[in-house]
Amino acid sequence: MGPGDDAGVLRFKGNLIVETIDVITPIVDDPYTFGAICAANAVSDVYAMGGTPLSALAFLGFSSCDFGPPVIKRLLKGCVNKLKEAGACLLGGHSIEDNEFKFGLAVTGVVDKKAILKVDGASPGNLLILTKPLGTGILTSASKRGKIKGAALNKVIASMLRLNKTSSKAAVLSGARSATDVTGFGLLGHGLNMAKSSKVDLVIFYNRVPLMDGAKRYASEGIIPKGAQRNLEFCGKDVDFPKGLSNEDKLIMSDPQTSGGLLIALPAKGMRTFEDFAKREKMPYWIIGEVVKGKGRIIVK
Ligand code: CO
Ligand code: CO
Repeated sequence: MGPGDDAGVLRFKGNLIVETIDVITPIVDDPYTFGAICAANAVSDVYAMGGTPLSALAFLGFSSCDFGPPVIKRLLKGCVNKLKEAGACLLGGHSIEDNEFKFGLAVTGVVDKKAILKVDGASPGNLLILTKPLGTGILTSASKRGKIKGAALNKVIASMLRLNKTSSKAAVLSGARSATDVTGFGLLGHGLNMAKSSKVDLVIFYNRVPLMDGAKRYASEGIIPKGAQRNLEFCGKDVDFPKGLSNEDKLIMSDPQTSGGLLIALPAKGMRTFEDFAKREKMPYWIIGEVVKGKGRIIVK
């Protein structure tokens, strides 16, 4: 695969094996929930390739003075159950003493050669589909400051817990050649990766981009993760923004996501199949723009 793809792919006796790794620091307090989010986040790269996760190895860094066995057990339980939902099993793992808690997984999956979704497969005329609203970076920052809790926080958590399994299946079924998951580099970063690799431009309609409740409000209060700023600085020169789009709006589009949705470039003729499948599976999605001829830029309208 190219350097910008979501996972590495190995050919072995006619099968394609997908391998990827993701490690993150806690974004929620409850260890069970964090373990499950880590798993959903890690298997997402396999789904972004159009693949099926099979097994995982865990990596854990923690201080054994601060966290006892009950916390670690709950963490692993959350992880194993989410992997089970994805149809994958935890084979084992490794832990080290670490002052900063971190947890992640190396995931192995398989992908059908005909189903593979690559970042360089987007073509002019494709529709751009996003399968989760943006805002996990901003909203988990707000939660760390105690600004968001209860039902509002649970909605954000539910989004991070949702597997990209059905989104991936929908993309493959409807003939997509290209997808990527929106994670640390935000919508603009991952979108640019797709645009540059595919040698096309992406047109994104800002008012069609789904945002989580409160994302805009907290962003306007200045609750914006440093990563969003960094992403925007990095991507800004390759993005045309419309006059009048506020800096907050730009930062929201650069907000780093944990277990974000898939960005899918879908041939227009596959839209009907996609729509039907999404309806059947009660899967949310938003058509946020389209792919046009170009040289690897994003045009926000
Ligand atoms: Co990815
Ligand atoms: Co990743």
